[in-house]
Amino acid sequence: MKIAITGTPGTGKTSVCRILKKRYPVIDLNELIEDEKLYTGMDKERNTKIVDTSTLIEHVARLDLKNTTIFEGHLAHYLPVDIVIVLRASPSELRKRLGKKGFSEAKAKENIEAEALDVILVEAVERSDNVYEIDTSSKDIEEVAERIIDIIEAPEKYKNRYKPGSVDWSGEVFG
Ligand SMILES: Nc1ncnc2c1ncn2[C@@H]1O[C@H](COP(=O)(O)OP(=O)(O)OP(=O)(O)O)[C@@H](O)[C@H]1O
Ligand SMILES: [Mg+2]
Repeated sequence: MKIAITGTPGTGKTSVCRILKKRYPVIDLNELIEDEKLYTGMDKERNTKIVDTSTLIEHVARLDLKNTTIFEGHLAHYLPVDIVIVLRASPSELRKRLGKKGFSEAKAKENIEAEALDVILVEAVERSDNVYEIDTSSKDIEEVAERIIDIIEAPEKYKNRYKPGSVDWSGEVFG
């Protein structure tokens, strides 16, 4: 089974995968893109790499993968996987985390807006019928890891609990 762990920057993908790595093979897509030079250039305004997702998909298809493999990164939901797990964090929590990460005000704002508008969740749902979302706002990293393990071990059992639409920031955004 292939699993994508995706979400807006700051939702905790890399942090949670440090725990999950003890149990499952994890491919860090940012690392892979950097090591294998899978980017076509830099988006100077955003200070991010421009990645052609079809190049990424082709590269991943050639990897020799174990039975259960996790792909981690904000592009993970573009890959052909069995399960997509979207990590979410409330706009106010995300602001704190991105500040800690040293993001500029402009970059933090762009990501907080994307999170508030469910951008990654919508992209994921457009590509997969097996999307789960987990609100990490008031869960520590260990707890998020436990929830992910639950889903990986019994995807059908948890389909309803973490179904897309279960997380909603409109109260915080419009309230
Ligand atoms: N569940 C959590 N509770 C509190 N803080 C968290 C949680 N998860 C992550 N953090 C903190 O938030 C920050 C961002 O986490 P992390 O780098 O893992 O996010 P990411 O999703 O991998 O972001 P990026 O897409 O930029 O790589 C870190 O400082 C981390 O310690
Ligand atoms: Mg990361």
